[in-house]
Amino acid sequence: MTDPVLPHIADPSLAAGGRRRADWASRQMPVLEKVRERFAQEKPFDGRAISACLHVTAETVVLMRTLKAGGADLVLVASNPLSTQDDVAASMVAHDGVTVQALRGEDTTTYYKHIRAALDRGPVITLDDGADLVSTLHKEYEDSLNDVRCSMEETTTGVIRLRAMDADGALKIPVVAVNDAMTKHLFDNRYGTGQSTVDGVIRATDILMAGSISVVAGYGWCGRGVANRLRGQGSRVIITEVDHVKALEAAMDGFEVMPMLDAARAGDLFVTLTGDTSVIRREHFEVMKDGALVANSGHFDVEVDLKIVEEMAESVEENVRNHVDAYIMPDGRRINVLAKGRLINLAAAEGHPASVMDMSFSVQALCCEWALKQDGLEVRVHSVPKEIDDWVARLKLETMNIGIDTLSEEQENYLKSWQMGT
Ligand SMILES: NC(=O)c1ccc[n+]([C@@H]2O[C@H](COP(=O)([O-])OP(=O)(O)OC[C@H]3O[C@@H](n4cnc5c(N)ncnc54)[C@H](O)[C@@H]3O)[C@@H](O)[C@H]2O)c1
Repeated sequence: MTDPVLPHIADPSLAAGGRRRADWASRQMPVLEKVRERFAQEKPFDGRAISACLHVTAETVVLMRTLKAGGADLVLVASNPLSTQDDVAASMVAHDGVTVQALRGEDTTTYYKHIRAALDRGPVITLDDGADLVSTLHKEYEDSLNDVRCSMEETTTGVIRLRAMDADGALKIPVVAVNDAMTKHLFDNRYGTGQSTVDGVIRATDILMAGSISVVAGYGWCGRGVANRLRGQGSRVIITEVDHVKALEAAMDGFEVMPMLDAARAGDLFVTLTGDTSVIRREHFEVMKDGALVANSGHFDVEVDLKIVEEMAESVEENVRNHVDAYIMPDGRRINVLAKGRLINLAAAEGHPASVMDMSFSVQALCCEWALKQDGLEVRVHSVPKEIDDWVARLKLETMNIGIDTLSEEQENYLKSWQMGT
């Protein structure tokens, strides 16, 4: 017997607006629509409880509709206190039969109360973005661990945490690293985070990118995307890295590469996308220019050391614009921190465009179905089955009206052989 879970949302009267935005998103998610049509016929979840801890955005509605069409009994909670779109949350409760517990700006206590509610529902499958749900399951719901058949993980930071749990022998359920699918991180992390992070910075600050100097910390999938989009807007981009190969790649892609201490003196705008902690800290704030803008688009709000900047500042002017707090240093310099160091693309903009979430969420939905079909899935971090990646890529190309060539028999044989040379 599981506890009933009631919705907890900011304002039910916002539902109509949320529905319009979700419908708009769904028209740009044709691959997921195909999955939804099949699920509606085959009902792979058939009354099973699925609990999701994801960013509550218009695209997530389309994923929820897909799982619902497959017969799932759904609870959705936020994976970040600042990323919830309240109109979308209201719309899911009013129109889609999803129990949502998420409020934009919820405090940490409420955030975890919602996560516990999602676990109280007794899910057989969980979906996570950052591993807070799975980590709470392991810490506080030991008795329920056997009921969870599998969990899906959406983001790099979550996969890193789950691999750390696995290495420690602490992981007790099978998980699928959705983030590591090619049709996820190659596009979502690079182009989705790339575009929406720049969008978030512009919406929050209205600065002119052309001629500005931007510093991007981390040249992974997200960092590459953001750096290239900033360059496209005419910004001169500096990369900071800790990995020699990535730093070399950035240099050969034509970016300036230097340590953060040097970059801190030069930058007008800073964006962290490392999944690491304290990337921008005291010695960097000490040398930043007056008016510097500091944002994070990595998963957790630990990349910019906010405690230190608070300690260093003589005073703080909150909300000088929406999503901008100005920290006034004793020497009069103003350092502007965006979105309280939380994901700028979700806090100040709308997160990833629907067209890219079409692929990530198709992978999510198909992996939920795949996991339920497996008998005794081994307890470890699983990769997304290659057939799912291939299917999503093929369908996405088709919906974009892009055709490609097919290997002839002769070419297939040639590519498998070693005998033929010059
Ligand atoms: N904003 C979003 O919507 C969004 C979307 C996807 C992923 N993410 C998050 O963004 C972060 C990065 O994800 P990714 O897929 O690019 O990861 P990634 O592993 O591909 O890249 C991270 C890069 O940061 C570098 N790095 C680590 N510590 C550093 C430091 N101190 N200074 C400079 N560079 C450092 C690493 O060497 C690596 O190249 C993660 O937290 C991920 O969860 C955010």
